[in-house]
Amino acid sequence: MACTDPVGVFDSGLGGISVLRALRNWMPGEDFLYYGDSRHAPYGDRPLQEVQALSADAAAWLLARGVKAIVIACNTATSAAAAFLRETYPDLPIIGTEPALKPAVERHPGGRILVLATEMTLHEQKFRRLLEQFQDRAAVDPVPCPGLMEFVERGVFSGPQLKAYLKAHLQPHLAAPVDAVVLGCTHYPFLRGAIRQIVGPRPEILDGSGGIARQTQRRLQARDLSNPRPTGGSITLCNSLDDPALLRRMELLLRCPL
Ligand code: DGL
Repeated sequence: MACTDPVGVFDSGLGGISVLRALRNWMPGEDFLYYGDSRHAPYGDRPLQEVQALSADAAAWLLARGVKAIVIACNTATSAAAAFLRETYPDLPIIGTEPALKPAVERHPGGRILVLATEMTLHEQKFRRLLEQFQDRAAVDPVPCPGLMEFVERGVFSGPQLKAYLKAHLQPHLAAPVDAVVLGCTHYPFLRGAIRQIVGPRPEILDGSGGIARQTQRRLQARDLSNPRPTGGSITLCNSLDDPALLRRMELLLRCPL
């Protein structure tokens, strides 16, 4: 492992690009290699062992290309496979993702907080532990959103179908005022505008990408693995689906204003 090697980033598809954007902004001198596993998306609907196997494949794919660290830019894959990947690669910095519940509670103590995520993220031990840690400091309402990440995979960021989906899933949770909405899936930041239209102007909408970027920088620094170049890093986008339209969409998500 050398400090000039790239940082590997993976997700079940395009969502991890929301994390990649934060990583690039925070560490503009690093090279990043992104692997989106759209062929097997969504991970959230699959059995745990399958998500572990797919995450192991994604990590092996990145390691075969010489990455010095891996960012699991997926809450679902982190819940299912982070511990197992850390056991498999004890010397590799592996940075996971979790719903930004801690900053939400710190910013809105005693408030009402919705956490939008996949069923797997909300049911796995990692989130249950997080919930235990914070549930006496805020009213936390987990909202499973099966099918929501698929809108991003298809390149749908607005329109009647998305609106109908969000109304059906979010409106039952909006009867009492909401202080914060945590986007607990890395695809959802690309739907922020559509979510804002349904939840209204009051709640703060948070995602965890900034925290992951800072944590990645800390982990690289601790191992003397930060690229000393201050700017000029590169980004390589890859996908398990060899579809030029999908690769163009990935480029677009990397560059579009959020
Ligand atoms: N981006 C993934 C996450 O953060 C998407 C989930 C899925 O593949 O179901 O959870």
